[in-house]
Amino acid sequence: MNIYEQIKIAAEYIKKGKVVAFPTETVYGLGANALNPNAVARIFELKERPSFDPLIVHIADISQIDKIAIINDERIYDIANKFWPGPLTIILPKRSIIPDIVTSGLPTVGIRIPNNPIALELIRNSECPIAAPSANKFGKISPTKASHVKKYIPDVDFIIDGGKTTVGIESTIIKLNDDGFEILRHGVITEDDLSKVLPKSSIKTENKILASGMMKSHYSPDKKFYLLDENILSQIDKSKAGLISFTGKYNEGFKKVIQCSHSNELLEYAINIFDAMHQMEESDVEFILAEPVEEKGIGKAIMDRLKKAAYKHKK
Ligand code: TXA
Ligand code: MG
Repeated sequence: MNIYEQIKIAAEYIKKGKVVAFPTETVYGLGANALNPNAVARIFELKERPSFDPLIVHIADISQIDKIAIINDERIYDIANKFWPGPLTIILPKRSIIPDIVTSGLPTVGIRIPNNPIALELIRNSECPIAAPSANKFGKISPTKASHVKKYIPDVDFIIDGGKTTVGIESTIIKLNDDGFEILRHGVITEDDLSKVLPKSSIKTENKILASGMMKSHYSPDKKFYLLDENILSQIDKSKAGLISFTGKYNEGFKKVIQCSHSNELLEYAINIFDAMHQMEESDVEFILAEPVEEKGIGKAIMDRLKKAAYKHKK
């Protein structure tokens, strides 16, 4: 089936209240009509997601924000015009048209316009905003290919196969405070990028929701997963371990190496990191190690994902 046919079928499913997996530029989403609470309930069921973890609502055009959220601050348009379509989610006060199940009862809603032509076409053809979390089981590795979705959510009503995603990690999530923006989840749009449009806020909102962006453990492979360091190297047998590598400096002696960057670019690491975790999970290595990077720029988003993946395996 060609991609246009897939989009058409998926849009029909969305209109009927069903759940469809689709590519965005970040990761695959598990989408349903954001205005239909029963359809959204099925997302939570399929994903085995706790009801306290709110969903992001995807739209195709800036003019749609106003229908689902209250624009209480004109600076939203400065940010939206600069970064949308793109890997940025903005948290805004929600309108009542958005059912409580989407936002886990919060008075706010996360909104984004994804930069992927398939996702945009799907939203337009569905004629509704699409609520979608990442299309993995709750707590597992995020999906960057249709095969990753099939592995975790075989019961989804339809999957659009749009190939591998081009950004590879989830959107940056921001909230606007009186004095500027606050980052709730790091992504490839960095603090520096945002600072060119708005100042960074000095306020740090008390973390009241235990959402994936804020949980300590997440994105986790079913095998033991560690950050590479001297301590861990002294405790494991390298010949049974897989290395997710950035610089290539430590590749010697491992059973399997996935080289995520060939040009020492952090964006390349981000693009390939979840796919590398999936490959390692599916391989015959006993442990997985990943090379850490400096927590600067995109490195912050990468280390956030790696630390959460490693959290429950900490030695
Ligand atoms: O790149 C992405 O953002 C992907 C693609 C599919 O768009 N989506 C994604 O969704 O990563 P998900 O559900 O895996 O993570 C969304 C996170 C929630 O776990 C929560 O941390 C945050 O977004 N979130 C959503 N609504 C929120 C709200 N009203 N207030 C605070 N955080 C919110
Ligand atoms: Mg997720």
